[in-house]
Amino acid sequence: MRHPSIQVHPDTESLARVAAEQFVALAQEAITRRGRFSVALAGGSTPRRTYERLSDEPFASQVDWTRVHVFWGDERCVPPDHPESNYRMARETLLDRLTIPASNLHRIPCEQAPEQAAAAYEATLRAFFAEGKTPSEGAPIPRFDLILLGMGEDGHTASLFPGTAALHEEERWVVATYVEKLGAWRVTLTPVVLNAAAYVTFLVAGKHKAQRLREVLMGPYQPDRLPAQIVRPHRGHLTWLLSVEAARLVQV
Ligand code: 6PG
Repeated sequence: MRHPSIQVHPDTESLARVAAEQFVALAQEAITRRGRFSVALAGGSTPRRTYERLSDEPFASQVDWTRVHVFWGDERCVPPDHPESNYRMARETLLDRLTIPASNLHRIPCEQAPEQAAAAYEATLRAFFAEGKTPSEGAPIPRFDLILLGMGEDGHTASLFPGTAALHEEERWVVATYVEKLGAWRVTLTPVVLNAAAYVTFLVAGKHKAQRLREVLMGPYQPDRLPAQIVRPHRGHLTWLLSVEAARLVQV
């Protein structure tokens, strides 16, 4: 893996602008070269402003959204219209403001039972990424053009939480995972897919993440305790877009 790019920005607004600029550049390149752009969105709150910026000018008109295929890195096991839904957050901040075909939105069907939702989403990935392959070739490990991720105060990313089996999954692309501390089920991409991406970009803001972020970026490799460390794209670019508050304890 290439060394990660670590960028510190004065505030969430600046971080959102740079994230939107990267999104547009990668989308334009993928669409020009391969006719489509596959992106897995992050959930939580940090990406909201990035998504809002992308849905406005000058960014929205720079992307042919009919060629953009939207996936999610993880989902809470709630219905798609639930306030906690990552899908709903993306609809409100980005997707409902754009002309993007419904067939380009590949949400994790968390109205189903967790294991069923995970199996259904993996089938969606297989179908999408196997396009143009012969049955014998089968579906290669999905190589997203871009995966956006956040990081929690405990160092989790997507729904890969400390001490969970999902962190060590080496075969499946998507798993259901029960998060004790939340008392809730999640469905998440596994490291198999995260580390196959062409570009992975973390968006991290907030002073409460500074210590954990220091451990993730500068401490020993302990992914069981610091799941964000497990994201090391094998043949891809890793970028950390940090607010100055979150990066307060990081020497870049
Ligand atoms: C989720 C996200 C999760 C999130 C982090 C950071 O479903 O919540 O996938 O991994 O990115 O918890 O969340 P904030 O951006 O809200 O701090």
